[in-house]
Amino acid sequence: MILSGFSSLLRMPLVRDLSRDTLLKMDPETAHGATITALRLGLAPQQDYPDPKELRINLCGLDLANPIGMAAGFDKNAEVPLPLALMGFGMVEIGTVTPLPQDGNAKPRLFRVGAAEGVINRMGFNNEGHDAVFRRLKGQRIGAALGVNIGANKTSTDFVADYVLGVTRFAELAEYLTVNISSPNTPGLRDLQTEEALKRLLGAVLTARSKASVRVPVFLKIAPDLDENALDAIAKTIAETDLDGLIVSNTTIGRDPVAGLENATETGGLSGKPLFNLATQRLAQMRQRVGTLPIVGVGGIHSPQSAVAKFAAGANAIQLYSALVFGGLDLLDRIKRGLAAAVRSAGATNVSELTGRNVSDWAAGKAGV
Ligand SMILES: Cc1cc2nc3c(=O)[nH]c(=O)nc-3n(C[C@H](O)[C@H](O)[C@H](O)COP(=O)(O)O)c2cc1C
Repeated sequence: MILSGFSSLLRMPLVRDLSRDTLLKMDPETAHGATITALRLGLAPQQDYPDPKELRINLCGLDLANPIGMAAGFDKNAEVPLPLALMGFGMVEIGTVTPLPQDGNAKPRLFRVGAAEGVINRMGFNNEGHDAVFRRLKGQRIGAALGVNIGANKTSTDFVADYVLGVTRFAELAEYLTVNISSPNTPGLRDLQTEEALKRLLGAVLTARSKASVRVPVFLKIAPDLDENALDAIAKTIAETDLDGLIVSNTTIGRDPVAGLENATETGGLSGKPLFNLATQRLAQMRQRVGTLPIVGVGGIHSPQSAVAKFAAGANAIQLYSALVFGGLDLLDRIKRGLAAAVRSAGATNVSELTGRNVSDWAAGKAGV
């Protein structure tokens, strides 16, 4: 009772803005910890209306009430998947989880590029490891599609074996798995995106998946820092597998859109608004290469208009993270309203009909938000 009272209090604009302003004054990692604690305590707003039917989609056999997901990295240890689902996300991706717990890089390792609404992180897969996350998730049903994003330990001598362990451990618990080979903060990880390495990785991962008692959809999450030849090689490699979909994209090591701004020279992956155009171009370029294979579009979504653009560039569903730091939690509501309005004004009945309406302009770098 008391907690749901707080939750409705937080929906009031003044209180909501105060909590956002307070968080923005804190050190970024402390603010993140405070947000997780608030969610754990039930202090986040909860959606108290059903999603409009225009937003209902089926993604790789998963029925989603809406196509918007919480991206990986926010809830690395599966502490708050249920509160995130109650906030109104259609899918919640926890992780990245590695087989063994690891501390990640030394702090500070998370920075705001406030002037551009960007974030730079070099967290380095800080997480409590498979066992802790498995225990937390066991038996949980959250009412949104629960994804587990798996990775490799920094000190591992066999990255592929770490992913296989992740599949084996979580195949029967997760509603989908994401093979994350695109974090810039684990040395050597992104090399798994090259053709031979990717072939070996996907062979091992999808064989492990086929041994589980249920067929869990598996997505591959790629970096935006890939040229057209690299995209060709990935598309060719995955066409020879039964991978279910792609997530495009992770953070960028590029800094062009934030050059000269505070914190822009920090090492790590850049996300948020300044990532939008690059990640959306890569999404469209991948769409041109993979036909109708499902793609989750991620990177820089910060407004209803940018969410609509991700669909136009070829996304079947979307995820976001960084914009919640700057836009506040009501961004999710605004994006839903914007998507539903875009469906109606296109004379369509479902958001899936917005997919791919402007792939060629986005792929050629002729579109932007
Ligand atoms: C602090 C932070 C930590 C992240 N950690 C992960 C992670 O562990 N695994 C992963 O696949 N992506 C991770 N990401 C990347 C996001 O999932 C997402 O792909 C990226 O931030 C682009 O989306 P955005 O611009 O909406 O944030 C992280 C992002 C941030 C900002």
